[in-house]
Amino acid sequence: MEDLIERARDALSDSYAPYSEYRVGAAIRTADGTVFTGCNIENANYSNSVHAEELAISKAVQAGHRAFDAIAVASSERDGVTPCGMCRQTLAEFCGDDLAIHCDEGDDGYSTYTLGELLPNTITAAHLDR
Ligand code: THU
Ligand code: ZN
Repeated sequence: MEDLIERARDALSDSYAPYSEYRVGAAIRTADGTVFTGCNIENANYSNSVHAEELAISKAVQAGHRAFDAIAVASSERDGVTPCGMCRQTLAEFCGDDLAIHCDEGDDGYSTYTLGELLPNTITAAHLDR
């Protein structure tokens, strides 16, 4: 687990966040143990920010992975930041309620949640009968 958090922390260094100066890194682990990382990438229009979790899962899906065990998230503030609502929904497209979400709290360690805790009763492909 600490390894996954370490990978999320490492990804912070790739962040492009000149506007918020709030750097975020994420590392998602696939069912076969492969790890993909992402960071936030902001834009001068203030709207088109790519979120770290979104980039990590997008890279994994592009590489052919659709099953995930866990994701770790770290911010430059080491403040235990959790994935935002948009990222929770993006994760729910490919991950079940049991996905572990580890949130870096710096020297205090980390908090672990499940996706089901952070985003209960969300819409999924099952609702659309696909
Ligand atoms: N951010 C993420 O990368 N992931 C989240 O889920 C929370 C927010 C980024 C977006 C923006 O670049 C900065 O954090 C401040 O909101
Ligand atoms: Zn987000």
